Amino acid sequence: MRHFLTLKDFSKEEIMEMIALAQKIKTQTKRKQYVPYMEHQTLGMIFEKSSTRTRVSFETGIYQLGGIGLFLSSNDIQLGRGEPMKDTARVISRMVDMVMIRTFSQEKLDEFATYSKVPVINGLTDEYHPVQLMADYLTMIEYGKGDHPICAYVGDGNNLAHSWLMIASKLGFELRIATPKGYECNDEIVTDAMRFAEESGAKIIIGNDPQTAVEGADVVTTDTWVSMGQEEEKEKRIAAFAGYKVDDTMMQKAKSDAIFLHCLPAYREYEVSESVFEAHAETIFTESENRLHAQKGVMVWLDSHREDKK
Ligand code: CP
Ligand code: NVA
Repeated sequence: MRHFLTLKDFSKEEIMEMIALAQKIKTQTKRKQYVPYMEHQTLGMIFEKSSTRTRVSFETGIYQLGGIGLFLSSNDIQLGRGEPMKDTARVISRMVDMVMIRTFSQEKLDEFATYSKVPVINGLTDEYHPVQLMADYLTMIEYGKGDHPICAYVGDGNNLAHSWLMIASKLGFELRIATPKGYECNDEIVTDAMRFAEESGAKIIIGNDPQTAVEGADVVTTDTWVSMGQEEEKEKRIAAFAGYKVDDTMMQKAKSDAIFLHCLPAYREYEVSESVFEAHAETIFTESENRLHAQKGVMVWLDSHREDKK
């Protein structure tokens, strides 16, 4: 049985299999062909943090695949009152067919997966947001940027940046990351990415200068400067990230046909200007819609790799 906890655990071929499934199911969905790949299956969706896209896309996704989603907010289940993660995993995974969790540390997610009888999907942790990157890569392909793109990530060295590191190093493209000093990516994750890059031919460039990072890029992206759980650091972070806003001047350094991606929610005039956001709104909201399609690819792939189904 395979879990989807980080892209680190998947080969390029496997990631591309999930993307191909997503493309196929997207085409069917657009024709209103809801093929029941996961008929009668239940997806448990545990949320320890807020969500708009992850909740709506997973719940709609499993329903369109012929199953049903259970929204389980930690405010409402016993996990929020201190029931251990490993007990929650042993209870829920005996009743449902797949679980998606949004939580804090990757360790908590790993603990759930260790005790789970069914595949577990990472719906965001402090360290990674891998389903987002599946949607982002699907969007890049649709906009003609799937083949050897130069990508620039400007901003916080956070869960999004880490997942960009994983997808770029696995698929073999160029990724430049520019963060302020003190907000760099996790060293271990960078080391892993560098190791994967040696195998895949990816070019990973880590630095602190956003203007250099976006020079000639095909894809420019960023994320909030204040992730969930960091609310108390807001003022300090806003000061530290001055100069890292993706605005028109910065975008002009990228290729003239460059696309801009944002996982959302976006905070205008902080990590991105209103003008850049609105100029690229069609791409951004396609990226957001692609959460639905990409995650169906992930769920159907995981379901078809269960030992008990072979
Ligand atoms: N991008 C993303 O995961 O959005 P939500 O926090 O709304 O799920
Ligand atoms: N880095 C952000 C992503 C939100 C989808 C966070 O963790 O809050």
